[in-house]
Amino acid sequence: MPHILIFGATGTIGGALAHYLLSSGQHTVYGLARSPAKAKVLAKQEIIPVLGSIAEPKGFLDLLASHPEISVVVDAAAAYGESATIVDLLVTAGKKRLEEYERVGAPSGPKLGYVYVSGMWVHGSSHTPVSDMDALTGTSAAGSPPANMVAWRPQIERTILSPATRAVLDTAIARPACTYGSGSAIWGAPLSALLKATKASPQPPSVQITLDPLGTAALVHVEDAGAGIGALVEKLPLLAGTGVYPVFDFVGQIESVRAIMEGAARVFGYKGVVELTGVQEGDVLGEALSSSVIGDSGRARGLLGWEAKRRGFFSGIDLYATSWLAGTE
Ligand SMILES: NC(=O)c1ccc[n+]([C@@H]2O[C@H](COP(=O)([O-])OP(=O)(O)OC[C@H]3O[C@@H](n4cnc5c(N)ncnc54)[C@H](OP(=O)(O)O)[C@@H]3O)[C@@H](O)[C@H]2O)c1
Repeated sequence: MPHILIFGATGTIGGALAHYLLSSGQHTVYGLARSPAKAKVLAKQEIIPVLGSIAEPKGFLDLLASHPEISVVVDAAAAYGESATIVDLLVTAGKKRLEEYERVGAPSGPKLGYVYVSGMWVHGSSHTPVSDMDALTGTSAAGSPPANMVAWRPQIERTILSPATRAVLDTAIARPACTYGSGSAIWGAPLSALLKATKASPQPPSVQITLDPLGTAALVHVEDAGAGIGALVEKLPLLAGTGVYPVFDFVGQIESVRAIMEGAARVFGYKGVVELTGVQEGDVLGEALSSSVIGDSGRARGLLGWEAKRRGFFSGIDLYATSWLAGTE
């Protein structure tokens, strides 16, 4: 029964991953809790809380030292550049494990596994297809630079894939596309603008949404993202030490941002025209949401057996816009 420690288990992606792992009945799941209140939230969901933070790592480092059955750590925290510190801490924890195996005369003990949750916005924005086999992604030689919101991320990916890190940890990178479903929180800003126009009396004849009208977003339902990362966690021991490039894009659909906004406006009851006016200077989230990412998940399907089950944000817009609306009330 594999034991997994998740950073970010109280969040959207980490929560979906924990749910996937627990509902398989095969895993014990630990989650980093940054406060006693968050520890209670995790315990209610049958996730074993571990109090601490990146700045106060003693709790999870002690846990990893005293529980060698914890085989994989997943970083699904929205810790941004601080994830580099998580890598350093886990390299230290991984080294300690290997030294302990040596000390007790069991030098062939398994490495600690580490899955980093990155995202498809590292591919930047382009109408040219992208691939998770492309090692140039995020480098100066890439076809498109990463979205500004995640400009720090490729360096962390490179550290995780470096021979020095992989000498100590079995590593892999999961890159979910932009999520929808379970409240679609990341779409809150444009959906709020649509709702405001809907509620105005009288409704304005048009509403301006500051997203790229030509944006074709790579999307994945939150639950499908959790299942994909979960499949990667489960397959990590089989991939480790092989020649498989351990980076996987998880995309369910590629959809027009304009269609999604127009669909949501219809569901809310807005009668005017939805105008996508382009991204405003400095709006890094708007830029990222507007990104055109023409990726696919052929390798995740073939190597991990992952398949997106949900049909798409636009296809299910009645459900997803209503669900987002319910979350605002
Ligand atoms: N949502 C998406 O569409 C999407 C798509 C692709 C990739 N991603 C990536 O997936 C990761 C998680 O995103 P999310 O949407 O699930 O975020 P989220 O819903 O905002 O959840 C963030 C989680 O990270 C934890 N956290 C935040 N700052 C932290 C820190 N400094 N140290 C430790 N934990 C910290 C939060 O803990 P508290 O509860 O204590 O605040 C929470 O559990 C991010 O790296 C994001 O870029 C997200």
